[in-house]
Amino acid sequence: MTKTITLTINGRRVTAQVSPRTHLADFLREQQLLTGTHLGCEHGVCGACTLLIDGQPARSCITYAVACDGRAVTTVEGLDADPTAAELRDAFSAEHGLQCGFCTPGMLVAARDVVLRKPDADDRQIRVEMSGNLCRCTGYVGIVNAIRRVLDARKTNAG
Ligand code: FES
Ligand code: FES
Repeated sequence: MTKTITLTINGRRVTAQVSPRTHLADFLREQQLLTGTHLGCEHGVCGACTLLIDGQPARSCITYAVACDGRAVTTVEGLDADPTAAELRDAFSAEHGLQCGFCTPGMLVAARDVVLRKPDADDRQIRVEMSGNLCRCTGYVGIVNAIRRVLDARKTNAG
């Protein structure tokens, strides 16, 4: 049995047939060929699959695709032209916030949310905010420093 859903993916209206049991991450990767969303734990713990649903970060491995009928989904590919994501990509590169890159799409989506929501976050708050995203390579220091770099640059530019 399949269900017809219509949703907006990265600004593009899409109608598709999905099984009610298909998770959003699998739907995006396998049916929409948007492989920027990564799957790690597949049970809502590691954050690798983080994307935006109606602008809010969400775990796509524990979200059914049918639950996104009528909603707007933004993957890391959809943030290509987003200025905050662009600043973060540069900062992750400059601060060595990635090694293998597996966690990076989810990290960027989550970090963008922190930058937009918590402009005055200190390093401890950044760590708390990012605690739902796991990285096996970096030890997190580079990731925190990257977010710190973007927040500091924004304050400098504003002041
Ligand atoms: S793959 Fe979704 S939280 Fe780990
Ligand atoms: S860079 Fe490898 S898991 Fe984070």
